[in-house]
Amino acid sequence: MELRVDNRAIGVFDSGLGGLTAVRELTALMPNEDIIYFGDTGRVPYGTKGHDTIIKYASQDIRFLLGFDVKAIVIACGSVSSTALEQACAMSPVPVLGVLNPAVKSAVAKTKSGRIGVLGTSATIRSGSFEKKILNILPNATVKNRACPMFVPLVENGYFQKGNNIAHLIAEEYLQELKGQVDTLILGCTHYPLLNDVIADIMGKDVELIDAGKETAIETAKLLAEQGILCKRDSKGCSLFFVSDCTDDFARLAGIFLKQPINNVKKIEIDKY
Ligand code: DGL
Repeated sequence: MELRVDNRAIGVFDSGLGGLTAVRELTALMPNEDIIYFGDTGRVPYGTKGHDTIIKYASQDIRFLLGFDVKAIVIACGSVSSTALEQACAMSPVPVLGVLNPAVKSAVAKTKSGRIGVLGTSATIRSGSFEKKILNILPNATVKNRACPMFVPLVENGYFQKGNNIAHLIAEEYLQELKGQVDTLILGCTHYPLLNDVIADIMGKDVELIDAGKETAIETAKLLAEQGILCKRDSKGCSLFFVSDCTDDFARLAGIFLKQPINNVKKIEIDKY
């Protein structure tokens, strides 16, 4: 059988810098792949926006990435994945993966009681997409949804370490109604994996936390392997970062998400796409 290879980059986008949690997972799994990342820092947050605005922004983000001849697109943003996945797939000639399906697949496989919680932005929870997907696969499941709008600013301001009183207080408030009610909890937003320890502390060790970005990275690696389009270079891949606002802030905060300094960030005019 002829072995196909594809050394083109993987495109990844998010409303801002949170999608770097998915980039971290992608590069850990596939270190030799190149990545083109777009963070729409000029228009973040998407999680508070309406349906039509999110679709318009996502379409522009995808057009921008397609300009690089990427071989696949990963929607790292929970708000876009749950609101605009169908539209995104329809407009792209290359495979598009959102965080929605991989996270649901993993949660459904891991739950024992069928009681699954979903945390996300207001847009994600309002869309009802996670719940619909879960019930499609597991019709008897009980799904508890919770929007956690203060989690994103908490993380962006550095309040996410275990033992941080403010993070703990806010998480306690959001998670109170889920405690003891679910055995699996989907972290359906880019930023929430950074609060993993705080959330785990409150929910208890018997609750399985699903990192949507991590599950999506695993699915992406599987898809590229199945389609024979993994990169076959031996050397480490490189990542290029594009944003729609000031590059300095992005580079500084990106260090938190990627756990390494980055300096190759360029600003673009996303309205042109
Ligand atoms: N990236 C968004 C998400 O995962 C969180 C930040 C925002 O609201 O734009 O839903």
